[in-house]
Amino acid sequence: MKKMNLRYRPDLSRYYDGLSLAAAIIAIYFAYQAFLAGGYWRPVGFVFGFGAALIAYGMFAAPKRLVVSRYREKLVHKPETWLRLVFASDFHTGEFKRAEWYEKVVLEIQALDPDVIFLGGDYVEFEVESIGALESLKKLHAHLGKYFILGNHDYLDRPQDVRNFLSGLGFADLTNGHLTLKKEGRYLQISGLDDCWQGHPEIPPIRAAEHLPHITFTHDPDAVLDFSAGDTDLLVCGHTHGGQIRLPVLGSLLPIPTKLGRAADKGRKIVNAIPLIVSSGCGESEVRARLFNPAEIVVVELGI
Ligand SMILES: [Fe+2]
Repeated sequence: MKKMNLRYRPDLSRYYDGLSLAAAIIAIYFAYQAFLAGGYWRPVGFVFGFGAALIAYGMFAAPKRLVVSRYREKLVHKPETWLRLVFASDFHTGEFKRAEWYEKVVLEIQALDPDVIFLGGDYVEFEVESIGALESLKKLHAHLGKYFILGNHDYLDRPQDVRNFLSGLGFADLTNGHLTLKKEGRYLQISGLDDCWQGHPEIPPIRAAEHLPHITFTHDPDAVLDFSAGDTDLLVCGHTHGGQIRLPVLGSLLPIPTKLGRAADKGRKIVNAIPLIVSSGCGESEVRARLFNPAEIVVVELGI
């Protein structure tokens, strides 16, 4: 897979808030002037006013919304039990979110009474010093365990420190690792894959036993491009943030940073005959804004 080092990308994010606010103020000014001018200027004023309202909503209100998206995946022909997996990713500490936001995420996850919890990477935006904002993750509990893999952002600044921090909160590192869970006499194999931009994913993941259901979790949906039908029964991932800023019908306004692009930018898709669930994540990157695409915790009921 293509390797990219984001360290060399120009970091323009510090300017986005100011630019967005300036755009909103200018739009409000033009809307007001157009309204005063009257006549055919009034519809122009309406457009500018609507634009200002959208920018303000996207910057200050929409990023505070958190939703739970639920899926039900039958992994065997006749499931005898259902295992509840909760997946959260893309926290991006350091730029836009405070610790209180992540405490809210933790409360939501725990209220879902998960059997197992997966964290899908991008804990930090850039500097690892900011990761302390995720301290509340230590309160999470699931009787079948809680696991993590890293995302591309976690490799930008001392990934081992990210690993040590999460291990200290009680999460097990499942990077290129495998485990088998048991619930009510039924088994589920799980593989965790390293990030396909910055890490070294072991693709395809190993199925310990062909007859047992198998799921994979990783950071980037592009991982599925190297899978063949039957390599896994479900892949759960994040990375795209759903594009972060979307419009109804049109979808993401910004390019999706994957080869799959809009073909797998959020929600459930099927690629290479493998079901793929892509989370919109729990934080923002590059710009402190979301639009018609709230932060998201994913719950998957797995029939095994
Ligand atoms: Fe991310």
